[in-house]
Amino acid sequence: MSIPFQFGHLAEGQNFINRQDEIKRLTTNFESGVNTLIISPRRWGKSSLVSKVVAGLMTSKPNLRVVSIDLFSVRSEQQFLSLFAREVIKATSSKWEEWAENARKFIGNAVPKIAFGNQPGAEVELELSWVDKKINPLEVYDLPEVIAKKKKLKVVICIDEFQNLAHFSDPVGIQKQMRSVWQKHQHTSYCLYGSKKHFLTHVFTHQSMPFYRFGDLLYLPKIELSHWLKFIPAQFKKYEKKISPELTEELCQAVSLHPFYVQQLAQRVWILTENETTRIILDQAIDALLNDNAFGFQRDVENLTGTQLNFMRAFKDGVKSFTSLETMIKYELGTQGNIKRIKAALEQKDIMDFLGKKPEFIDPLFEIWFSRNF
Ligand SMILES: Nc1ncnc2c1ncn2[C@@H]1O[C@H](COP(=O)(O)OP(=O)(O)OP(=O)(O)O)[C@@H](O)[C@H]1O
Ligand SMILES: [Mg+2]
Repeated sequence: MSIPFQFGHLAEGQNFINRQDEIKRLTTNFESGVNTLIISPRRWGKSSLVSKVVAGLMTSKPNLRVVSIDLFSVRSEQQFLSLFAREVIKATSSKWEEWAENARKFIGNAVPKIAFGNQPGAEVELELSWVDKKINPLEVYDLPEVIAKKKKLKVVICIDEFQNLAHFSDPVGIQKQMRSVWQKHQHTSYCLYGSKKHFLTHVFTHQSMPFYRFGDLLYLPKIELSHWLKFIPAQFKKYEKKISPELTEELCQAVSLHPFYVQQLAQRVWILTENETTRIILDQAIDALLNDNAFGFQRDVENLTGTQLNFMRAFKDGVKSFTSLETMIKYELGTQGNIKRIKAALEQKDIMDFLGKKPEFIDPLFEIWFSRNF
């Protein structure tokens, strides 16, 4: 029997809910060549959203090519350039037999090789190297535009996990190069997105940064409760199980509407429910999730200093003014300057977010775990 809730991979098909406004906005941007920058905390649905929009455009716009690049495992500029060039060549060729020829044609000193997997049905891959290992970054960054013009195409480059740029040896220098080339492009547009909210907000919105005002900036919101209220009970019903609107709402609020955790918790509840969900089942499911994640949370806490933990305790106790003398003494927070540093560190470690209207924990399950254990 399949499970009607999914997490840990892209939300697709019936499992993808709402995002109507964002789909419209991205589709319009992609069609009209407007660059887009998307920021959200981890697992709110960036990759699922972009993938949904791309799938829609692939079927409706024959002259549009979308190049999807994931920086998840990329750690150096060399790796990035090679991946970028390879994916651009692949996405703008009509069949794999043309990859090597197009690589030679469009990249001065490229040495392409086609690799065949040795398993039956394994994918064919394009491997690129450069004569004397001399990659010209500017040539690579310009590649999509050169090909788009030549082949009369529109190209959209989607770069996921863009925050991994931070691992390169000169991240700002590279961004300068990219921007200097990309801003001249007429037939290619860019969608850059990732999840280190604090870092990417700096990269995309700070005046001194190369990607400042590079495109339409979208802070992806959570999915509204009303959509989950329809989706969750309907999924239960397919298997002749029932969950009340009240408990559905409690389920969603328990994890602060965090899309990944809503799906994960709904799955737990669904598994534990024989006929109809009760509050006891919901509580059991939350406990089970906390248990599953306890090891990781423990590790996160080990990376925090005593004063950082004290700050989080104060926050959980409802403290509003951290710089009042009373708070600083009660929670042993040190000086005012120290509080600034604590906030910066918690933000940098992706534990708390201070950019919104009010400070909040980034991971709602970690927040529950922290409250119970500290
Ligand atoms: N539109 C949606 N409808 C239903 N569930 C969703 C939706 N978007 C995201 N989710 C849930 O959130 C999970 C994470 O989605 P996704 O991988 O797209 O997020 P992300 O922001 O790209 O994450 P990461 O920061 O790890 O790259 C999905 O597996 C799914 O459970
Ligand atoms: Mg993602």
